[in-house]
Amino acid sequence: MFGPIISLQFGKHLDVVASSPEAAMGILKTQDRLLSSRIVPTAFQQASLIPHSLIWSECNPTWKSLRTLCRAELFSAKALEAHSRLRQEKLGNLLDFLRRKQGQVIDAEDVVFTTLFNTLSSIIFGKDLLDFKEEHGTQDELKESLRTIIEYGGRVKDLGSFFPMLERFDLHGIRKGTMKEFNKAFAYWEDIIEERRVQVNSSTCPRSKLNLSWIACLKMDSQITKSIKWLCFLIRTNTTTSTVMWAMTELVRHKEVMSKIEEEMKKEFNSDQITNSEISKLTYLQACIKENFILHPSVPLLLPHMAAETCEVMNNSIPKNAKIFVNVWAMGRDPKLWNDPLSFNPERFIDSKMDFKGQDFELLPFGSGRRICPGLPSGIKSVEFLLASLVREFDWAIPNGEDPSTLDMDDKFGIALKRKTPLNLIFKQKQENTNA
Ligand code: HEM
Repeated sequence: MFGPIISLQFGKHLDVVASSPEAAMGILKTQDRLLSSRIVPTAFQQASLIPHSLIWSECNPTWKSLRTLCRAELFSAKALEAHSRLRQEKLGNLLDFLRRKQGQVIDAEDVVFTTLFNTLSSIIFGKDLLDFKEEHGTQDELKESLRTIIEYGGRVKDLGSFFPMLERFDLHGIRKGTMKEFNKAFAYWEDIIEERRVQVNSSTCPRSKLNLSWIACLKMDSQITKSIKWLCFLIRTNTTTSTVMWAMTELVRHKEVMSKIEEEMKKEFNSDQITNSEISKLTYLQACIKENFILHPSVPLLLPHMAAETCEVMNNSIPKNAKIFVNVWAMGRDPKLWNDPLSFNPERFIDSKMDFKGQDFELLPFGSGRRICPGLPSGIKSVEFLLASLVREFDWAIPNGEDPSTLDMDDKFGIALKRKTPLNLIFKQKQENTNA
């Protein structure tokens, strides 16, 4: 196979890579039913984990009911509305922290990750699991475990995945290492779940206050609870954090773009707190987010799909069990699709109807079809609110007055495509906000 669909034979595995909108449509729409199975990365090939995982399980009835449950409890418009108070609260904590640390060098990824993680842990468990402090303690260990899991998840140098007969030996210790870190994290979470269960049973906490943790404790069985932990803590925090980090990087590099967002916000915002309706008016910010997805899709090859049956895409035969990647990273750099693709040019989305919701096959940061990211509405809200709040409240600077154009733009492949080096920034409260 060649052209927009290529195939690569690695050991016994056949990998198929699609890198044009037509090929993506063939896979994610025309043959969606047959090409929506999954191949589980080595790190997560634990018999005990796969059945609980919305992400890695087959498109079977359990997967369907998990998606339905998540849509209703986590991602519906009603659920998003219900979570907006918590989101505001966690954003408030972030802004307070940065105000206190004004003038100091901050690892932007650490604070964004902590904010997103705590928003979700408060929705699920009714409690923050991380803090912004840099001292060593349980929370830092938890952060470290999560980082290591993510790193293992992206490991591709693994003989076992090329030669299945070697798979069970776990030659690189990937499965063992991942499980060790998971067990540490699970132990931490089990204690919290137990704490909430006791609260619910003894009614020491009003049900309304327990939010989804109430449902998590009572309505869901332990399998579902486990899978939701999986889904939430790994995927959400990493994809969303990496999206925000790349967008912040581009804004630091492009002062003129930052100024346009500031202007737009001055025009559209009336109240102290940023609301959903105000965010929806920020068309230039939304154009920046789309542009960021072209250059920095946080899942550059989508999650690997697998062919459940042999089928054809654009006259190419895709054999049963082939591993399928949709290379959205390459599509974002294709000059046939985008004029001057490597420039950061949000203007291309002004007056354009193109969106990232899975209908426009040039722009698929969340995938499309039955495996499309179910967290899209929530992920996008988080990205918009975080960026809008940070731009509105602070001026951002690179330490030592370095030239923004020299910022390291290298990336690192893990579960999400992250910046290779930390984005260190100094935040300074904007003049107009200090007087408020
Ligand atoms: C900007 C943020 C995000 C981006 C760019 C993103 C992107 C993606 C992509 C590309 C996929 C794979 C689609 C495929 O295999 O074809 C995916 C799957 C998934 N995402 Fe997201 N995601 C984001 C946020 C979230 C959030 C906030 C959640 C949940 C709270 C979430 C939960 C999931 C789940 C559960 C899957 C697997 C779905 C399945 O296999 O059925 N994502 N995401």
